[in-house]
Amino acid sequence: MHVAIIMDGNGRWATRRGLPRTAGHVEGAKAVRTTVEAAARAGIQTLTLYAFSAANWERPRGEVDGLMFLFRRYLFAETRRCMDESIRLNVIGRRDRLDEKLLRAIEHSEQLTADGKRMHLRIAVDYSAQSSILEAARRSRRIPDVTAQDFRQLLDEADHSAQQTPDVDLLIRTGGEQRLSDFLLWECAYAELYFTERTWPDFQAADLAAALAEFRRRERRFGRLPGPTPAAAEDRPRSTREWLH
Ligand code: IPE
Ligand code: IPE
Ligand code: MG
Repeated sequence: MHVAIIMDGNGRWATRRGLPRTAGHVEGAKAVRTTVEAAARAGIQTLTLYAFSAANWERPRGEVDGLMFLFRRYLFAETRRCMDESIRLNVIGRRDRLDEKLLRAIEHSEQLTADGKRMHLRIAVDYSAQSSILEAARRSRRIPDVTAQDFRQLLDEADHSAQQTPDVDLLIRTGGEQRLSDFLLWECAYAELYFTERTWPDFQAADLAAALAEFRRRERRFGRLPGPTPAAAEDRPRSTREWLH
């Protein structure tokens, strides 16, 4: 089971309280901690969190710096816990625009948690699904007759993700907006989408449980018909033809 979350609404959470937007990001980091713990307990194998999009560089310098600082602090504080909980931490997205200190912190966390088996935690930073797809397309030119499976591997490579990540089963977006904002466009081909008004800093273990309960009620069809395939399948072409006449 792969759950992906667009953690949105930090700014509005803060503004509503008369606080600076960065205060919302500080609270958001606490919600990350709670959610990671709850997801591991719920038996989720892969959790991908959207922390910073490639487009978020367009925000004011102070907000971007604050987010990068919080991210590094999160890595310092949580790596030990991930090791204890057997969680493999992996940062996906572009790395060439990240600060040297952050880059070292990422590499350090990834190395220390590499053996984690319980859950694969992917944090998307400077991430853009379109850029990843484009990069995978460039790399695919060296493979003759590239298959969807090969392409999926190239995508993980382009994202610095551990290999063999399954496609997304459930995509959650907090903060009330109903859009993907360039997140995991390829991997969400058949994801169930779940939108909640709850802003990210208010997101609790119970909200994750509610999303998972809703997911279990959904019927995933992948383009097929619901239920088992009828036994007398060979009768169908003829009856379809008769009906068309
Ligand atoms: C999500 O919250 C965090 C990031 C995008 C980094 P926002 O900062 O987008 O909060 P809103 O959407 O403005 O409320
Ligand atoms: C998406 O949220 C990115 C993250 C949550 C990290 P945004 O707030 O940047 O997305 P838009 O601008 O509302 O589409
Ligand atoms: Mg937002």
